[in-house]
Amino acid sequence: MSPELKILQIQVLVLLLTLFSCAYNSHGKYILEGSAVYNSKSYIILTNTTKHSYGQVFNNVPLPFKNRSFNVNFFFAIITEHKQLASHGMAFVLSPTSGLPGASSDQYLGLFNKTNNGNTSNHVIAIELDIHKDDEFGDIDDNHVGININGLTSVVSASAGYYDDKDGNFNKLSLISGKVMRLSIAYSQPDKQLNVTLCPADFILPPKKPLMSLNRDLSQYLLEDAYTGFTASTGSMRALHYMLILHTDDGAQLPPFEFGRVPIIPPYPKEASHRTRTILAVFLTLAVLAAFFASGIGSVFYLRHKKVKEVLEEWEIQCGPHRFSYKELYNATKGFSEKQLLGKGGFGQVYKGTLPGSDADIAVKRTSHDSRQGMSEFLAEISTIGRLRHPNLVRLLGYCKHKDNLYLCYDFMPNGSLNKYINRMNTNESQERLTWEQRLKIIKDVACALLHLHQEWVQVIIHRDIKPANVLIDHEMNARLGDFGLARLYDPGFDPQTSKIAGTFGYIAPEFIRTGKATTSTDVYAFGLVMLEVVCGRRLIERRAAENEEVLVDWILEIWENGKLFDAADESIRQEQNMMEIELVLKLGVLCSHQAESIRPDMSVVMRILNGVLQLPEDLLDVIMEERLKKRPETSVQVLLDVNSFATLTFTNSFVSHGR
Ligand SMILES: *[C@@H]1O[C@H](CO)[C@@H](O)[C@H](O)[C@H]1NC(C)=O
Ligand SMILES: *[C@@H]1O[C@H](CO)[C@@H](O)[C@H](O)[C@H]1NC(C)=O
Ligand SMILES: *[C@@H]1O[C@H](CO)[C@@H](O)[C@H](O)[C@H]1NC(C)=O
Ligand SMILES: *[C@@H]1O[C@H](CO)[C@@H](O)[C@H](O)[C@H]1NC(C)=O
Ligand SMILES: *[C@@H]1O[C@H](CO)[C@@H](O)[C@H](O)[C@H]1NC(C)=O
Repeated sequence: MSPELKILQIQVLVLLLTLFSCAYNSHGKYILEGSAVYNSKSYIILTNTTKHSYGQVFNNVPLPFKNRSFNVNFFFAIITEHKQLASHGMAFVLSPTSGLPGASSDQYLGLFNKTNNGNTSNHVIAIELDIHKDDEFGDIDDNHVGININGLTSVVSASAGYYDDKDGNFNKLSLISGKVMRLSIAYSQPDKQLNVTLCPADFILPPKKPLMSLNRDLSQYLLEDAYTGFTASTGSMRALHYMLILHTDDGAQLPPFEFGRVPIIPPYPKEASHRTRTILAVFLTLAVLAAFFASGIGSVFYLRHKKVKEVLEEWEIQCGPHRFSYKELYNATKGFSEKQLLGKGGFGQVYKGTLPGSDADIAVKRTSHDSRQGMSEFLAEISTIGRLRHPNLVRLLGYCKHKDNLYLCYDFMPNGSLNKYINRMNTNESQERLTWEQRLKIIKDVACALLHLHQEWVQVIIHRDIKPANVLIDHEMNARLGDFGLARLYDPGFDPQTSKIAGTFGYIAPEFIRTGKATTSTDVYAFGLVMLEVVCGRRLIERRAAENEEVLVDWILEIWENGKLFDAADESIRQEQNMMEIELVLKLGVLCSHQAESIRPDMSVVMRILNGVLQLPEDLLDVIMEERLKKRPETSVQVLLDVNSFATLTFTNSFVSHGR
C-alpha cells in the first residue's frame, strides 16, 4: 500500500476518534472483572472480541437500596460483529456482593450460572438488555428488555422500544443498532412500583409512559445494602457492550448529549485483510477526489448560474433593520472561502470577513436551515441578542437569510476565544500566558455580562452554554460573552420536552440533570467552573494529570481542605501579591459550581464579592463540604459516577486514543 493511502486511513481513524465522547468517573471506585475494561479511562466496555466471555463492573461501596425509592439512568451501546445476529446482552444489577463470582458467559449474561440460576438466596435484581432469544428462559425475542429477579427468566419483559409522548405510539428500537441509548429505571417504594423506560440518547427526558412496569415490593428480594453493577456476555456471536455513563439519584434525569454530540461508537473492529484494506483506501481516495471535483464544479456552476437572491420573511422584518444582503456577505468573506474560515461548530461555520467600503472586520456565522433545530436556535439567537448591547457581550451586527442558509454577523474578535488560553498542560511553554490581572479582568467581564443578562435586562436571559469557547477576547483583551444560540428568554412554563437540548457536558448543573430546566443558577454553575479553569489554567478534566488531579473541582477541594488552596492556581500567576485575590476567586468558583443549587450565589452577589464589597463567609469550606455530603430525603445513591461531586458527568470531544 502506498504511503498516501496509509495516511488517508489514519486520517479516517482520527476522524472517528474525534467523534468519541466519553463518560468519566471521578473516584475510580469500579471493580472490573472478566473482559471489562476502561476505554482509555473513560467509558467501560464490558466485553471484548472474545467469544463466550463475560465482563462485570461493580461499585465497591454498597448502598442502602432496601426499602427505598431509587432512580437509575444509564447510557449504553451495543456494537455487534454481525448486523442481524448477536449474543448475548448486558444487564444492570443490584447485588449483595461487589461482583458475581462464578458467573457464566453466554445466556447467563455474566450474572448467574447453571447452579445458582433462579435461587432465591441470590438476592439479585437485574434489568437485562437481551439481544439473544434463549428459549430455556422463555425469552420473547432477541431484542428485549427484561426485569429479572434472582434468575434469568424475566418476571416482565418487553421488546425494545418506547412510547411516544405525543401520540402514544410504540416506536421500536434495535438494541444492536450501535446507537447510544438510555435506560431509565425508576422504583417507588411507597407505590411498590418499578418502571423501566428505554429511549434514544438524545431525548432530554425519557418518555412518560414506561416500556414496562412491575408492581411489586422489591425490598423483599434485597439485602440491607446492595452493590450496583453491570454485566455482559458474548456467546458464539460477538459483541462489544458499552457502558457510557450512569446516574442515580432521586428523580434524577440525565440530560441527553448536546445536540450533535451523542457519542458515535466506532463500528465493530474489523480484522480486515490486506486486500479489503487496499480496496477501502482506494475507494476513499476516489470518494475524496470525487467530492473535490464535485465541489469545484458545483461552485463554478453556482457562480455562473445562480443569482444572488434573498427572501424577506416575516421574522426578519420584526427583528429590525440590521439586514445584510447576501452579496455583501459573500464579498466580505471572499465568497466564504476556506481561507476565511475561523471555526466550525455544531451550528455551522464561522468566517472572517471585511465589510466592503469599511475596514471593519466581522465574523459571519453560517448555518444551514435544513435542520429545524438549527433554524429555531438561530431565530432565538437573533431575537434575543439583536437587541442587546453591552461592552461584555459580542455584538450582533446583522443577519441575512439566503437559500437554505442563515447568516449572523458579529464583531470580529481578534484574540479568539478563552479556550486557547486554558491549556496549561496541553500545549508547550511558548503558549501565550495570561497574567493574573488579565485573568481577573476576564472573569469580571464575564460576570458583568451575565449580571446584565440575568438581572439588568428587561427579561431574564439565560445563556445556557457558558464555557471558555463562548468567551471571546477582543483586541483590548476585554472578554465578551458570545454564542447566544442557545439563549432563550426565561419562561417558567418552558417545557423541556418540546425544546432542544442545550449546554455542554461538564458545564451542566446537576439540577438541570434532574429537571431538564435551565435557570440563572445553572448559568452560575457553569460560570463557577469557568472561573476555576481560568485561575488554574487547565480544563475541568485533565487526563494527563495525576489521578487525584484529573477532575479539577475535586482536586481543588482536596487541596483546599489541606490548606494549600493557592497551589491550585496556574504556576505562572502564583505570586505572593496575588494570593488573596486568587484564593478569593477559587473559593467563589467552588461556591458557584456547587452541586447544591441553594447555596450558589446569584450574579449580583458574585459581582459584589469580586469587587470586594461583600466578603465570603469564614466557614465557607465547612458549608461547602457539609452540603456536598448532605443526602436529600429519598435520595438513593451514587454509583460508578459520583453524583455528589462536581462535574463528574463530563463529555469532552477530545482525541481519545482508543485502547484495544
Ligand atoms: C478478553 O477478555 C478476556 C478476559 O475475560 C481476556 O482473557 C482476553 O485476552 C481478552 N481478549 C482480547 C482480545 O482482549
Ligand atoms: C421501610 O420504610 C418505612 C418508611 O421509611 C418504615 O416505616 C418501615 O418500617 C421500613 N420497613 C422496613 C422493613 O425497614
Ligand atoms: C455458581 O455461582 C456460585 C455463586 O457465585 C458459585 O459459588 C458456584 O461455584 C458457581 N458454580 C459453578 C458450577 O461455577
Ligand atoms: C440456593 O443456594 C443456597 C446457598 O448457595 C443453597 O444452600 C441452596 O441449596 C440453593 N437452593 C437450591 C434450590 O438450589
Ligand atoms: C410508572 O409509570 C406510571 C405511568 O406513567 C406512573 O404513573 C408512575 O408514577 C411511574 N412510577 C414510578 C415509580 O416512576
